[in-house]
Amino acid sequence: MKGVTVITHPLVRHNLTRLRDERTGPQEFRRVLSEVAALMVYEATRSFAVAPLRVKTPLSRAAGHRLQREVVLVPVLRAGLGMLDSILQLIPHARVGFIGLKREETTLRATSYHQSLPPNLKPFEVILIEPMLATGGSAVAALDLLAELGARHVRVVNLVAAPEGIRRVRAHYPKLPIFTAAVDRRLNRKGYILPGLGDAGDRLFGV
Ligand code: URA
Repeated sequence: MKGVTVITHPLVRHNLTRLRDERTGPQEFRRVLSEVAALMVYEATRSFAVAPLRVKTPLSRAAGHRLQREVVLVPVLRAGLGMLDSILQLIPHARVGFIGLKREETTLRATSYHQSLPPNLKPFEVILIEPMLATGGSAVAALDLLAELGARHVRVVNLVAAPEGIRRVRAHYPKLPIFTAAVDRRLNRKGYILPGLGDAGDRLFGV
C-alpha cells in the first residue's frame, strides 16, 4: 500500500509475535512493546530532514548534520504510552504532547477528552504514536487535531494496522507516511483487529 512502510526486520517480527501471544502478560508486554518501538522509530525517522552543520574536531574541521526540525512525539492515550519511553530514549530532545480520545456512544465518532500540544506545530517533525490502527477513526481525529495546530510534517508509528484503518486514514491524508509492523486481515464486528493482539491498552496495563 502506497505510503505504508511495513517494517519487517527480524527483531520486529520476533517481538510482534510475542506481543500477539495471549500468554504474554503485562510486564513482558510492556518490555517487548518498548523494544519494538525503538526498532520501529529508527526506520520511521530515516527520512527526517537534516541541515548541514560544520564542527571542529580536536584535529580538523568536519562537515556534519543536525536535525532540521525539532521533534514532537504524540502518543494517543492509553496504548501510545507503551511506545513512548523507548522512543524518547532515542530522541531525548523531543517534546511530548498527548491526545486522549473517546468514542461517542451514539455517533461512534472519536472525540478528544484531553490534548496537550504545542500551540503551533508548523515548525516540528511530529510523530503520532498510535499502536493499533483499527477503524482509523481515532487516528483521523488525532491527525485532524494536529492539522488544526498547523502540523506539516507528520508521520504515524503504528504496531498493527487493519486494512480498513489504513484506507480511512488514506482517504483523509493521502500522503501521510505510516510505519507499521504488520497489516493484518480485517476488523471483527466489535472493531478489533484480526488476528491482532487484543486490546493493546488492556494488555499493557492489565485492566
Ligand atoms: N484497539 C486495540 O487495542 N486493539 C484492537 O484490535 C483495535 C483497537
